[in-house]
Amino acid sequence: MLKPLNPPIPSWAGQRIWIVGASRGIGAALARELSLQGAKLSLSGRHLAPLDPWLSTLPDAQRERIILSPLDVQQTEQLQQTAQHLLQNWGGIDLVIVAAGVYDAIRAVDFDASHLPVVEQTLSINLAGPYRVAAVMLPILRQQGGGHLSFISSVAGYNGLPRALAYAPSKAALNNLCEGLYFELSPLGIGISRICPGFVATDMTASVDVAMPALIQPEQATQAILAGLARGDFDIHFPRRFTYLLKILQWLPRRCYFQLLRWGLAFS
Ligand SMILES: NC(=O)c1ccc[n+]([C@@H]2O[C@H](COP(=O)([O-])OP(=O)(O)OC[C@H]3O[C@@H](n4cnc5c(N)ncnc54)[C@H](OP(=O)(O)O)[C@@H]3O)[C@@H](O)[C@H]2O)c1
Repeated sequence: MLKPLNPPIPSWAGQRIWIVGASRGIGAALARELSLQGAKLSLSGRHLAPLDPWLSTLPDAQRERIILSPLDVQQTEQLQQTAQHLLQNWGGIDLVIVAAGVYDAIRAVDFDASHLPVVEQTLSINLAGPYRVAAVMLPILRQQGGGHLSFISSVAGYNGLPRALAYAPSKAALNNLCEGLYFELSPLGIGISRICPGFVATDMTASVDVAMPALIQPEQATQAILAGLARGDFDIHFPRRFTYLLKILQWLPRRCYFQLLRWGLAFS
């Protein structure tokens, strides 16, 4: 049996977890499940109002374990203030899950300078966001001598994709960043994981107008993420029937990859 790449997390009860990008979608589903399992949570996003209906249903004991920390992942100072607030309240941070992300369809056929603000914002949230969280959290985790940083990336980072000229490169770079972080931080006892979902039914995919094979619900994504973190996986990807196929495509000669992609899109 091979040793897990990260320290496994055997139980969620009492774990001190900060989710950046928790107001909707996968981050919100993770928050609901982790709260149910007894974790202490800090939930961040720019607009946390979408959490209100769920929060209002919680028993006091469960609600008291949740700190709402509104912020924009583009603002390093807000991230720093939240981290310090959590340290004061909790005495340490066990796990940070960075779920914040945006997607806008950008196509090559009409790409021009009018798209650059969207490209810059996508890179600022999807790629520079994780850098900012790492910059704030790593001094804390190094001092603690442990803890775990987990980044929600995407299978969109595996291969170049149409209609994703900003999103896919942001996730490709994030996939690479996670490996660089892992290599040097693992010997220090710090966990790093990369989460690559396939299609998940959230606000992000609501306006996608191509077929979404193997689409899953945020609750299914949550189960796969928590199981991967519990096992101590570095590379958490799901649903496997879809992600293994995409991993194989990475190894194909580009001539074959482009042809298969054309066929796939023609039939979607
Ligand atoms: N859905 C999919 O099929 C899919 C597939 C692969 C990977 N992913 C990745 O999974 C992650 C979650 O996506 P999702 O599908 O759950 O999307 P979603 O439903 O649109 O939720 C995105 C979350 O990111 C937060 N966010 C966006 N910009 C932010 C900012 N500047 N600062 C702080 N928080 C910000 C949003 O909160 P606010 O708007 O309140 O700030 C929201 O909580 C993303 O990284 C996405 O790329 C999704």
